[in-house]
Amino acid sequence: MSKARIISLLNQKGGVGKTTTTVNLAAGFAAAGNKVLVIDLDPQTHLGLHFGIDETAASVYDLLMDEAITVTDALVNARENIDLVTSEVDLAAAESELASKIDRHDLLSKKIIPILDDYDFILIDCPPSLGLLTINALVASKELIVPMQTHFLALQGVSRLFETVQMLVGGLNPGLEVTGIVLCMHEKNTKLAREVVDDLQQFFDSSRESNVPWSNCVIFDPPIRRNVKLAEAPSFGQTIFDYEPNCAGAKDYAKLAESVMAMTREVTIETIKTIEVVSSTKAVPTEVENDST
Ligand SMILES: Nc1ncnc2c1ncn2[C@@H]1O[C@H](COP(=O)(O)OP(=O)(O)OP(=O)(O)O)[C@@H](O)[C@H]1O
Ligand SMILES: [Mg+2]
Repeated sequence: MSKARIISLLNQKGGVGKTTTTVNLAAGFAAAGNKVLVIDLDPQTHLGLHFGIDETAASVYDLLMDEAITVTDALVNARENIDLVTSEVDLAAAESELASKIDRHDLLSKKIIPILDDYDFILIDCPPSLGLLTINALVASKELIVPMQTHFLALQGVSRLFETVQMLVGGLNPGLEVTGIVLCMHEKNTKLAREVVDDLQQFFDSSRESNVPWSNCVIFDPPIRRNVKLAEAPSFGQTIFDYEPNCAGAKDYAKLAESVMAMTREVTIETIKTIEVVSSTKAVPTEVENDST
């Protein structure tokens, strides 16, 4: 049995806190002694910048497009207990280059099989879209964490995201579950934020008995407060724990990391192999299928 929890951080809306959450969750997990691999699937290449790393021998683009490149070739050590697979701007072209490949949905999941036992957590930072790169992340993952902001229409955005995830991935990755929502840049004293959180909670409460990938989804507590230190840290190539370990942002992300670590979920090599078989027999997911066992 593989120990790695493979988690995609996804919201198709841009600028909601996906990369900030990926980096600082990874740092929180690593500080607790976990071995963590972070993979940047976004052509904006922000994840490497957050860790202060821009050039690597091979990127996630090479990993996806070149059969001979392994994860071990592509990864670089970013911090104690944290390995990183960087992105590059060429990755934007991968969406169209991948389209002609028969195994276009599960290239990433196949590539990570050999290293599943080497890590406790594998975090995948997704681009703000639901294209083939994101599908590769979702097919490779067991869990989904959705960073979001409590804006007007946020609930509609999340439920649309979930439906799209279920429709796109249901046939390719029956075991995928939405683990939780991270409220980012949160201003809890505003009426709008309170209303959005109440609506979200009602939405999840009404899904508890349903056979949907989000039936066990939680809204993580505490939310991540808006904190300027979180916006400053990346320009120094630092996590929030490197940059300002006592600020509100560091405290919030430390607690979030604890909450995620406290949930016990496991993925087996067998699960991944099943995904491989299922996805190679289904070129395009056309119907909603789910088995959240
Ligand atoms: N809690 C916070 N307080 C203040 N600023 C934040 C916070 N979280 C994120 N930011 C800032 O908000 C901006 C967007 O965050 P981030 O890059 O993490 O979002 P994203 O969802 O990954 O964006 P994209 O969709 O472009 O990949 C960044 O400038 C980041 O530094
Ligand atoms: Mg990002």
